Amino acid sequence: MSCCFQTVLLLIAHLVLSGWALASPTIQNSFFYHVYLNESSNKGIHFSGMKLHVDSAQPSVFSVRGGNATLQCKFWYEPEPSSPREARVKWSWVSAAGGHETDLVVAAGPRFRSFGDFRGRVQLRRDFPGDATLVLNKLQLNDTGRYRCAVVDGLEDQSTVVHLELQGVVFPYQHPRGRYHLSFLGAQQACEEQDSTLATFTQLFRSWKEGLNWCNAGWLADGTVQYPMTRPRESCGGARLPPGVRHYGRQHLYPNRYDVFCFSSLLQGKVYYLQSSRKMNLTEAQHACQDDRAEIAKVGQLYSAWKFAGLDRCDAGWLADGSVRYPITRPRKSCGPSEPGVRSFGFPPPQHKHGVYCYKLDT
Ligand SMILES: *[C@@H]1O[C@H](CO)[C@@H](O)[C@H](O)[C@H]1NC(C)=O
Ligand SMILES: *[C@@H]1O[C@H](CO)[C@@H](O)[C@H](O)[C@H]1NC(C)=O
Ligand SMILES: *[C@@H]1O[C@H](CO)[C@@H](O)[C@H](O)[C@H]1NC(C)=O
Ligand SMILES: *[C@@H]1O[C@H](CO)[C@@H](O)[C@H](O)[C@H]1NC(C)=O
Repeated sequence: MSCCFQTVLLLIAHLVLSGWALASPTIQNSFFYHVYLNESSNKGIHFSGMKLHVDSAQPSVFSVRGGNATLQCKFWYEPEPSSPREARVKWSWVSAAGGHETDLVVAAGPRFRSFGDFRGRVQLRRDFPGDATLVLNKLQLNDTGRYRCAVVDGLEDQSTVVHLELQGVVFPYQHPRGRYHLSFLGAQQACEEQDSTLATFTQLFRSWKEGLNWCNAGWLADGTVQYPMTRPRESCGGARLPPGVRHYGRQHLYPNRYDVFCFSSLLQGKVYYLQSSRKMNLTEAQHACQDDRAEIAKVGQLYSAWKFAGLDRCDAGWLADGSVRYPITRPRKSCGPSEPGVRSFGFPPPQHKHGVYCYKLDT
């Protein structure tokens, strides 16, 4: 028995020692790495205790559609190296709609490559050694998300994150046939057709803070279904629930049907109510805009003009989707509710007569 007990003790000792031995190479490695590593063949890995830092002076950036965004990133070493070093810079991003992190830009020395949708509209600013700032041009609605600036020097690899948001407007949208007729893909398409994109949770949340109150659940970019409540009431999921953005959770993307929250931002061009002596049916309205060298405005364009250009007009007008709406920034009697907003008459029969809102690109 005692022999075996000793064996067990030895075995334990052995395990403890080998466990330690298993752990030790990493310790030795980092020691080795920091103090002795000096491979001249492998372009300048001689960190000798030097530490790489990467940071952004501005971890969240706001811009508008069509605008530019400067995503700051710089890196430096401590202690400072005696000779200049060549680090590799990589920017990658995850869309606010979710999905995988994908590469956007890689750069090493003078070499530079951009990928995918960003090709041709990104530059790496190199104003000083260690500057890895990314400049994005001609921003699109779906460029919002999390951008990562990663710097690699030999075995050192550090990164920092910058969030890009667009200033804009979130609007609820329903299918012409009424409430809850949109699948997720239908919702995506509906927003695009109205010059907008599926809203993200962050965008809906910001609109809720600004007072958006909507009693119908709508799709968001991440495939969840939610609705913003600022004034809870019984018919809207219960009066006793606190105000907030209410969540139906992630729905099956195909069978379920809801409304949608679309997002639009600054518009190039202008939206206007067409001065006309007569009211028009939908086809006449479309032609009237064309005759004015414009096109009938889309819902997202009307919201954008309301939000960014302060469009205020107490006349109902046709829009491209066959709905009739009007934008109010200065609420007054006989122009709808007491809050500013885009008022909707839904989708009247196309032979009904109304005014029309047109959209023209500035020239
Ligand atoms: C590493 O190499 C550099 C030059 O390549 C030399 O100046 C330095 O002394 C070396 N460091 C060690 C720890 O060998
Ligand atoms: C964006 O940047 C480009 C050049 O990088 C410049 O020509 C353009 O005027 C800028 N646009 C805005 C809206 O600042
Ligand atoms: C983003 O929007 C642009 C323009 O609307 C479109 O061409 C592009 O395919 C969109 N990208 C993604 C990832 O949806
Ligand atoms: C609108 O009126 C024109 C005649 O001015 C007619 O030809 C057209 O069919 C009408 N369209 C609709 C949708 O009622």
